[in-house]
Amino acid sequence: MPATLPTASSRGALVGRARERECLEEALNALPTSGTALLLRGDSGVGKTTLLDYVARKASERFRVHRVSGVETEATLPFAALGELVIPLSDHLRALPEAQRESLEGALALGSRPASVNPYAVCVGALNLLSSAGQQTHRVVLVDDLHWVDPDSEQVFRFLARRVAAERIMFVAASREPLRTAPGIATMEVGGLPENDCLRILEARGLALAPAVFDTLMEMSRGNPLILLETASRLTLAQRCGESALPISPDLGGQAEQGWAGRLRALPASTQQALAVVAAAGDVTLDVLERALKHAGLCLRDLIPAEEARLVLAGNRGYEFVHPILRGVALNGVPVSVRRDAYRGLAEESTGGRRAWYLAAGVVTPDETIARELAEAATEARQRGSYLAAAQAWHRSAELTPHPDLSTTRVLQGATDAFRGGACDDAARWCEAAQQTSEDPRRRADLALLRGRALTWLGRVGQAHRLLTAAADEVAATDTGRAHLLLSEAALPAAMHLDLAGAIRAARRCQEFPPSDAAAAVNGPLFLSLTLALTNDIPEAKSEMRRALAMLADADPLETVMELGLLGQVCNFLEFYDDAARLLHTVLDGARRTTNPAAFAYASGARAELSWWLGQWPAAYADALESAAKARALRQPGTAAFALLALARIDAARGDRAACARHAAEAVEAADFTEIRSMPIMRDAALGLDCLSQGACEEAVAHLDQAFLAFTRLGLGNPNLSPFAADLVEAHVRAGNPLAAKEVLAWLEDAGKRTGLMWPSAAGARCRAVLAEDPEEAAAGFEAALIEHEQHPAVFERARTLLCQGEALRRARRKSRARAPLLAAHRIFTMLGAAPWTQRCLTELAATGHQVPGEAPRAEGLERLSPQELQVARMVADGLNNVEVGAALFISTKTVEIHLTHIYRKLGLRSRTGLARLVTAAGL
Ligand SMILES: Nc1ncnc2c1ncn2[C@@H]1O[C@H](COP(=O)(O)OP(=O)(O)O)[C@@H](O)[C@H]1O
Ligand SMILES: [Mg+2]
Repeated sequence: MPATLPTASSRGALVGRARERECLEEALNALPTSGTALLLRGDSGVGKTTLLDYVARKASERFRVHRVSGVETEATLPFAALGELVIPLSDHLRALPEAQRESLEGALALGSRPASVNPYAVCVGALNLLSSAGQQTHRVVLVDDLHWVDPDSEQVFRFLARRVAAERIMFVAASREPLRTAPGIATMEVGGLPENDCLRILEARGLALAPAVFDTLMEMSRGNPLILLETASRLTLAQRCGESALPISPDLGGQAEQGWAGRLRALPASTQQALAVVAAAGDVTLDVLERALKHAGLCLRDLIPAEEARLVLAGNRGYEFVHPILRGVALNGVPVSVRRDAYRGLAEESTGGRRAWYLAAGVVTPDETIARELAEAATEARQRGSYLAAAQAWHRSAELTPHPDLSTTRVLQGATDAFRGGACDDAARWCEAAQQTSEDPRRRADLALLRGRALTWLGRVGQAHRLLTAAADEVAATDTGRAHLLLSEAALPAAMHLDLAGAIRAARRCQEFPPSDAAAAVNGPLFLSLTLALTNDIPEAKSEMRRALAMLADADPLETVMELGLLGQVCNFLEFYDDAARLLHTVLDGARRTTNPAAFAYASGARAELSWWLGQWPAAYADALESAAKARALRQPGTAAFALLALARIDAARGDRAACARHAAEAVEAADFTEIRSMPIMRDAALGLDCLSQGACEEAVAHLDQAFLAFTRLGLGNPNLSPFAADLVEAHVRAGNPLAAKEVLAWLEDAGKRTGLMWPSAAGARCRAVLAEDPEEAAAGFEAALIEHEQHPAVFERARTLLCQGEALRRARRKSRARAPLLAAHRIFTMLGAAPWTQRCLTELAATGHQVPGEAPRAEGLERLSPQELQVARMVADGLNNVEVGAALFISTKTVEIHLTHIYRKLGLRSRTGLARLVTAAGL
């Protein structure tokens, strides 16, 4: 009798899993000093929840445990799972900084008035809430069935998981699906159990099997305990003893479902119907369930047989299936009409978004009334900053909208929210589908604009460009405002694709169409300067840049962060470093105030590049780390890859080969599936610099040559984008190929002349001097190069010229004259932390007979701070308080305090003023 058999429902003590247990316990033991983020991935029934139970039990002895789980439903409700986590902590909400409290309350609909919700304030707020409530004890956050968590909450959980190390939280999630991209979260594959453990589990449930029967079941279930238990419990005594044939279907995965379907069919009809209501309801309170049952002429008592058969459990929040697979089984086991009535009953008893979703689940044909309710739910979700829930509601609403134009409008709304929420793939897909059915040219243009934008951020830049230009052609004759927008939007992906001709064409054509409003007018010069800055037409790039700067001068910086960020990057390319610093500072300063943070990751990356040139490498490193982290949070693969390569370049110059290789590999992984063509060039450049720094010149040539070939083949002309050209000349010379070196040098000098830029002319002069055969000529060449360097702030480059000069003098046996440039180079390399280069100076100095003063001087002051500490120090010096620093860096206030303690200790300081003085003096 199934009803009396022990079943899979009672998740008992954990059997086996020694490896997993050890790993989880280790993480728990480490918790007081470091956090962990872990994903348990495994098929349904393999034992993930059982492992989470184990962690919960172990952890509750010492820590506070928060447990939430995703629930499979048709509805996507705003921040449903986050609410489960945060609402029990709402006592601590008052302690949060105001912006974060408002955003959290808005997101969870807790506050009395509608609040403005900043999605990143929600993330940081949740983090702060956990860590401030953690004053007494550390936190363990367990998320079961992550694959069913609503997408907005999932984003917050991913964010939390990425910050656990800094925040000392243990985060463990269980999912049937792998995480797509989640660096920093380790995955533990949970597979089937070995024979011994399976035997013990069966024994514990009193399910003894004959050896041959056990073997068959083992093979069939592949050690999946749920399949094993459900199959074994269905067998008759004769079957268990191996005396009659086993009723086993060839469908391995369906075994448990089949078992359950059989047990469901054995229940009274009213119980089956009541179970369908439980399944349709998802996650509701007991009284709503009771009333919904009443609509179908049922009551809670009808569930008793299911409870006795251990198919459902009455939990503290209502009824729960013993295993989530049962939900589908229960819904599919009843006729369509019963299912529909269940949804109707639930709708009757619910309000708002929930009601709209139940209504929608109960129909298959378009219905404007229901579509409108869903659209209202979408609007409400949007107001709560739950963009992904809003997007899903719009999308379903559009499907149910009978009128085609209105349906397209709703698709557009949904795609806009998906884009805002970082689900660029949904946005692009929905727009594409709607483009095929919509007949209104203006709507089609709007769909194309959004789709192109989404594809650009996804890194599908070639496709985005083609699509946007085609859409512009379609409306060129009838709608100039839209044509202007489409063409300006088309220039950026083309530039990222390094399709220079296409980018310039789009940027020039855009200016032929009058913009629809004044704000859009800046697009023309902005994108034209951006694309021209990649070529050697630097004079025109500069004049367009100035036009764009003038137009943006009076604009509200909070409304134009994206434009300012892009322009800051252009200023880098064109050597307007002061303007770049000013613009990027404005953008990053706005990070704390605006609710649209899409530009921050990009701007941090651009500022990292600026600081690289200026020789402020600790600052560059900190910005690049921040940029990579934010780009990942914002799901911008291209930006993440750029930032990672900026890190790799600094690692290379500093001689941290392992970090360089790791960052380069992560960049390639991040940019996988994108069409951003500069990525391999920048990667080869970083790897080449790494080899050159180590003196592995042949290897350096191999990498740098590839970068150089790709760069020139694509028609890129701005030599400031190929600082590796000078590295290649040097690598060729040292590898003994002067002829090849001369060829590259000729390109560099020519590009320098054409563009009138300062760096290429200084680097070209150095390379020429290195190649000079006559010592007099070389000496004059170095002097000339150093004069050129005076014009340009890149100290690393200057130090390299000094090193080459010293080497040449030493080789020409002018040892005493060699010392001064070598000592100067040594000083700069030390300041930059460029260890291999410092070492080269020391070797050369030794060869001149100079007594090298002991070891390289130890880093002093700010150099001793970690990148994150430096970032905190800079912001504190800027006058931000701890709360503001935390908000800007996406970390909790408590972590800011810990960083500050370390900073003060390392620097021997006592006050913020002292710190500000130090940072300002260092010119950061
Ligand atoms: N290591 C284990 N020891 C004992 N029972 C287990 C073990 N792993 C799984 N089970 C049993 O198998 C069934 C399914 O496990 P569960 O943790 O719910 O799987 P999942 O969460 O992966 O779908 C439960 O009844 C559970 O008791
Ligand atoms: Mg589970």
